[in-house]
Amino acid sequence: METTPADAATPADPGAAAPDPAPLARGEVVSTGVERTRDLARTIGRAAAPGTLIALHGPLGAGKTQFAKGIAQGLDVQSVVNSPTFVLMNEHEGRLRLFHIDAYRLEGPEDAYAAGLLDDRQLGGVAVVEWADRVAALLPADRLEISIRSGAAADERILEWRAYGLAHAALADALEAARAGGAGG
Ligand SMILES: Nc1ncnc2c1ncn2[C@@H]1O[C@H](COP(=O)(O)OP(=O)(O)OP(=O)(O)O)[C@@H](O)[C@H]1O
Ligand SMILES: [Mg+2]
Repeated sequence: METTPADAATPADPGAAAPDPAPLARGEVVSTGVERTRDLARTIGRAAAPGTLIALHGPLGAGKTQFAKGIAQGLDVQSVVNSPTFVLMNEHEGRLRLFHIDAYRLEGPEDAYAAGLLDDRQLGGVAVVEWADRVAALLPADRLEISIRSGAAADERILEWRAYGLAHAALADALEAARAGGAGG
């Protein structure tokens, strides 16, 4: 086997680009149906703070918008949360202002700049981004990433989370508590 001395003892270079940091918390939960997904998301809405950023991943029909609806409920949003089809971003009044972004139609980060989607205003409220990978380069490092994928049964979804930054690790704790509390349900 070849050895590469550079791997063995490369001194830390403070000028080098930082590698992707490890998440402070990660976990996953199986949702047995849409109500359970909303219930899990409500705990995030209740625990959210100004600057909370939820980056949602998963294919068409995974349940990203259902998750966004649950977050809205947890924020006491009264208006109807639907996919922001034509405007890319909807805003809702709640305990905190909810910015619901759907980046599906964006070609890349430059489009988001053009659309003026992401700016400092979101730092005062809660941002939920569907298809977050399309604007990943624009998102602050501190966030809660949630990937939704299909499970074995038709209504089963597996929600996997990764928290970056202390504030979002606290949200992961809330999700973990909801997972444990609803185990089997
Ligand atoms: N456990 C579950 N969690 C969430 N949604 C579920 C679940 N089981 C079934 N569903 C259904 O899956 C669909 C999810 O739709 P939703 O609009 O939330 O997906 P999406 O990920 O936002 O898709 P898109 O990328 O098209 O915006 C809904 O019809 C919902 O009823
Ligand atoms: Mg959606």
